[in-house]
Amino acid sequence: MEGLTVLDHPLVQHKLTLLRDKRTSTAAFRQLLREISTLMCYEVTRDLPLEPVTIDTPLETIQAPRIAGKKLVFAPILRAGVGLLEGMLDLVPSARVAHIGLYRDPETLEAVEYYFKAPEDLSERLIIVVDPMLATANTAVAALDRLKARGASNLRLVCLVAAPEGVRRLRQTHGDVPIWAAALDRRLNDHGYILPGLGDAGDRLFGTR
Ligand code: URA
Repeated sequence: MEGLTVLDHPLVQHKLTLLRDKRTSTAAFRQLLREISTLMCYEVTRDLPLEPVTIDTPLETIQAPRIAGKKLVFAPILRAGVGLLEGMLDLVPSARVAHIGLYRDPETLEAVEYYFKAPEDLSERLIIVVDPMLATANTAVAALDRLKARGASNLRLVCLVAAPEGVRRLRQTHGDVPIWAAALDRRLNDHGYILPGLGDAGDRLFGTR
């Protein structure tokens, strides 16, 4: 699908299979999510612009590349997005974090905001929104609306599993936001869950069910 990059790296696919398996324990789920998010972070930052800086090695003075611009912002959508955060911070420890508290109303599947805390200067930074499941996309759309209202214009979305319905909706509402996923699944069921999916990512991550 246009605007969607599915990561076919064998390590990503292997870890995703373990995450999908209903026998995987909460502890293993959490660890796997952290590992897969590090791999996904590597891919989503692949084209970051570089700038030359002058440094002294023990032997010579050289011009060497470093990432240009202000620190990245990772924006996990609470609560399941938190599961992807630590693995990304392992790779980019100086990134800033914007917490976006949204939940899906179980009846309407609409996104309800209960918390938002982000750095002030969003307009000057690349913001990577993270949420494991792109299902109806209601929460992702609400998060992107909110970030844009606060000045953000350079945005990317990382999810683990995407549904075609969610990708279509996100492309229609926020066509400027590219998406990275580990899998594009078949469809949503009547309750807005992704098939085959991996169940409720938040419950599996925090052991609440
Ligand atoms: N949220 C989840 O945690 N899982 C789904 O399948 C859809 C939304």
